[in-house]
Amino acid sequence: MKAVALTRYLPITDPESLLDVELPMPAPGPRDLRVKVEAVALNPVDTKVRSPKPQVEHPPRVLGYDAAGVVETLGSEVTGFKPGDAVYYAGDVTRPGSNAQFQLVDERLVALKPASLDFAQSAALPLTAITAWELLFQRMPYAPEGGGVGKTLLVIAGAGGVGSIAIQLAKLAGFEVVATASRAETIDWCWKMGADGVVNHREPLASQLKALGIEHIDAALNFADTALYWQELGELLAPLGHVGLIVEPSAPLNIGDPYKAKCIGIHWEMMFARPRFRTADMGEQGRILARVAELIDAGKLQSTLTETLSPINATNLREAHRRLESGRTIGKLAVQGW
Ligand SMILES: NC(=O)c1ccc[n+]([C@@H]2O[C@H](COP(=O)([O-])OP(=O)(O)OC[C@H]3O[C@@H](n4cnc5c(N)ncnc54)[C@H](OP(=O)(O)O)[C@@H]3O)[C@@H](O)[C@H]2O)c1
Repeated sequence: MKAVALTRYLPITDPESLLDVELPMPAPGPRDLRVKVEAVALNPVDTKVRSPKPQVEHPPRVLGYDAAGVVETLGSEVTGFKPGDAVYYAGDVTRPGSNAQFQLVDERLVALKPASLDFAQSAALPLTAITAWELLFQRMPYAPEGGGVGKTLLVIAGAGGVGSIAIQLAKLAGFEVVATASRAETIDWCWKMGADGVVNHREPLASQLKALGIEHIDAALNFADTALYWQELGELLAPLGHVGLIVEPSAPLNIGDPYKAKCIGIHWEMMFARPRFRTADMGEQGRILARVAELIDAGKLQSTLTETLSPINATNLREAHRRLESGRTIGKLAVQGW
């Protein structure tokens, strides 16, 4: 089968950083689906895993996490799917990725894709939707229906892949959502995702929120460097508030006052934790994706896809990685077809 893979971890400007390769067809384990991949979407984790280092991979390592495709073959113990099902998933960072014509994925991490979306639009959703859902509704103490009513939520990096779906999920839960964005295009995108207010993360946040009539926020989701906004968020959060984090801090954090004095809940989300450690509840990720597909098909959520490259090959994936590394993408970027 065709795949895009790496043998060395090189800067993305190097034509050998991602290569077109031929790999043997993988054989499914008992709970695996073998999926014919139709579209993939990019995430910063793709570029972080590929980042330059001396290590060498033999056989070549296939990256790629978000995917949408068609179930081709079932493992011996699969019960939830049949050949021909159109599915979507973010998979497992510890296994070969989605940048291949066929990929193995544990059925518990998979759901039928939204019927109203094409493969590229569907591939744009799983990793970011699982991240935002697990963080807001499973790590933080908010119910998906009504848990945000009467509360103000600040979403830092609102126009990124995670921010775009988090704004929508938070609105569905009833929050008043203020997102952050720093450019005209990203500000417009946050409005489109349903934000009630947009402030600029390159300027002090407190005075901008005050101008919107907001003195304190009940909760914050920081989808950028955790250290960068730590002090500001500690001051902005109301007593008994909650902060959700997904990015490694670039400097040590002081978890004492004002966080301790105000009794603020600090919540980490790592969406690959369930598959990586094969937790007993890893099937929760398939259930989240099934719920997200229902909300999409009911017109309550929209795909966050903004751009699609085609076909899936090393040239287009290098271009997609280059764009992700700029830190300036809006919504999601997908690559489709072989
Ligand atoms: N722990 C997990 O499970 C998990 C899951 C998914 C993602 N992540 C991590 O979360 C981060 C965000 O992921 P993503 O997919 O949303 O990334 P993304 O799509 O690449 O985010 C791009 C957005 O980030 C904004 N941004 C750039 N620098 C910023 C800064 N200094 N402060 C605030 N916003 C800034 C930009 O907005 P402007 O152009 O308007 O400045 C841009 O719209 C990445 O580091 C990713 O690896 C972690």
